[in-house]
Amino acid sequence: MKLHRGLTALAFAGALAAGLSAAAQDRSPTASKDALDPAQVQRGKELYAERCSHCHGFNMVSAGDVTYDLRTFPHDQRERFFESVTNGKDRLMPPWGDVLTQEEIGDIWSYIRTGGK
Ligand code: HEC
Repeated sequence: MKLHRGLTALAFAGALAAGLSAAAQDRSPTASKDALDPAQVQRGKELYAERCSHCHGFNMVSAGDVTYDLRTFPHDQRERFFESVTNGKDRLMPPWGDVLTQEEIGDIWSYIRTGGK
């Protein structure tokens, strides 16, 4: 019986460690999301729905074959986002520099960084 108790304790410790590391992983994406201004995200979401969703998909869900799947756009490439959205890309992605202000593109950028959730 002593052996059995030892194993149970070991299994418990293992589960606890797994649980703790899962919790630590959960926290980091939420922490970076906290830095986003919810009002800005909301405006970006509306602009996205109006201007981008017919190509990039509802809630950013796109097949990703022709149109870039924006859920995978690297969040550390802000410059590239502004450049591509303002000037377009490869003649497939239209330029938005005359339609949207830089501030509006910034709002969409906030929305993109939520990953569509
Ligand atoms: C007419 C369809 C269409 C619309 C509307 C559209 N896009 Fe795109 N977008 C594309 C296509 C196609 C690509 C892939 C271009 C390529 O990489 O060749 C793309 C690529 C992108 C990329 C990736 C560029 C890069 O650097 O690789 C971003 C970011 C992007 N679009 C953002 C937006 C945003 C934000 C909007 C709304 C303001 C928008 N798109 C509206 C078709 C569209």
